[in-house]
Amino acid sequence: SESGCLSIVVLGASGDLAKKKTFPALFHLFQQGFLQSGEVHIFGYARSNLSDDGLRERIRGYLKGASDEHVSQFLQLIKYVSGSYDSGEGFESLNNAISEYETSKTNESGSSRRLFYLALPPSVYPSVSKMIRSYCMNPFVASIHVVLSASRTGWSRVIVEKPFGKDLDSAEELSSQLGELFDEHQLYRIDHYLGKELVQNLLVLRFANRLFLPLWNRDNIDNVQIVFREDFGTEGRGGYFDQYGIIRDIIQNHLLQVFCLVAMEKPVSLKPEHIRDEKVKVLQSVSPIKYDEVVIGQYEGYKDDPTVPDDSNTPTFASVVLRVHNERWEGVPFILKAGKALSSRKAEIRVQFKDAPGDIFRCKKQGRNEFVIRLQPSEAMYMKLTVKKPGLEMATEQSELDLSYGLRYQDVKIPEAYERLILDTIRGDQQHFVRRDELKAAWEIFTPLLHDIDAGKLKSIPYKPGTRGPSEADEMSTRMGYVQTHGYIWIPPTLS
Ligand code: BG6
Repeated sequence: SESGCLSIVVLGASGDLAKKKTFPALFHLFQQGFLQSGEVHIFGYARSNLSDDGLRERIRGYLKGASDEHVSQFLQLIKYVSGSYDSGEGFESLNNAISEYETSKTNESGSSRRLFYLALPPSVYPSVSKMIRSYCMNPFVASIHVVLSASRTGWSRVIVEKPFGKDLDSAEELSSQLGELFDEHQLYRIDHYLGKELVQNLLVLRFANRLFLPLWNRDNIDNVQIVFREDFGTEGRGGYFDQYGIIRDIIQNHLLQVFCLVAMEKPVSLKPEHIRDEKVKVLQSVSPIKYDEVVIGQYEGYKDDPTVPDDSNTPTFASVVLRVHNERWEGVPFILKAGKALSSRKAEIRVQFKDAPGDIFRCKKQGRNEFVIRLQPSEAMYMKLTVKKPGLEMATEQSELDLSYGLRYQDVKIPEAYERLILDTIRGDQQHFVRRDELKAAWEIFTPLLHDIDAGKLKSIPYKPGTRGPSEADEMSTRMGYVQTHGYIWIPPTLS
């Protein structure tokens, strides 16, 4: 069933996500030989009245770093079908288009693999899913349990992306609506952070290195920070953003997924279900968030956007402390921090170790051991440590053990998150996708806080764009035990 016809259907084909992420990712897969002409067809579906070429021209500008010829070859794989998101007619013609290709001569194996990518606002997920279920499923395999014909096989899979609801109840409602239509193993909930190289590396790092095994706990680690910064605001998407805010946009999903991989116990094996079982467990071990361990902020100028209400309290910055109530982590704060319109763009994990006991070097002043995993940009891992300052004096200073990917892996092109995740979907590997119970546990952690922010019980502190965010957040990190290193900065090495 893993060869033969593959139909990739991008619903919402003329939208932003499709143009900026989905089609470019498909193109990269095509370039690397994963999507063979003759084996794969791509169908764009949307409401606009467009021709095949009309859609192709819209996409062309987003496909970079390749020859025109290659781009054209890829674009020839794409067909456009127009229709509404809630009427049978459009989806019937979509199904006809897919079937026509599946019954063509090239499909000797007679299989049908159908991947539906919902690049759509979640408000239409329920109706679109119903339409897919009623009109467009693989005709040979009604569900994994009911194979209609032994010789004709394949699958139907659906990719969806956040927001999955706005709180626990709405997320659960969406989950049950989708759950009535598809089996869990047909649903691929994307969190694109799980497709990032250094996020995927976390499991290996933690569980394949003897060095870390005995250190990764409350006896040695003082605090952990998981930080996301962007140096631009919500320009152009204020309307969407104001409904959600930074906690729903970044923390409850992207940073929480990273948190899971940093904090979870070792899975029984690498099977996707074993890994996801451990993520659920650690999420369920998170204690209720305390409001004196939360700082929220909003950058000045955010409300100038005409689509944002003048009295909006929506946070564009938040720092939230999570505490894990288990044997490994009791007492260790996990600070999850995210902000828009800050001084820089980066995402990193900072694992800070406790002071060396019985210190004879007065290292304390210089800073602690800190293991930093830089997710982006310039992927790197470095360990801050104290060394003897080279020279005649017996003095110490902070330096680092540095594994910078750009330098160490010069010939490797790190794949884009979406590229990798779409390939996983085609291969049927759900390891890097969010399971239903995992999503529920994630919402359970944040829903009370979100409701209280929405009700105005916590107020966003104003901060100036281009700064580190509200100083209250730095003060809180210090209160949590984080010791900022002074007089030392890590400089990403460059090729000379
Ligand atoms: C998206 C958020 O999920 O992630 C955006 O909705 C954010 O607000 C983006 O800009 C960040 O992704 P990346 O891969 O650029 O860090």
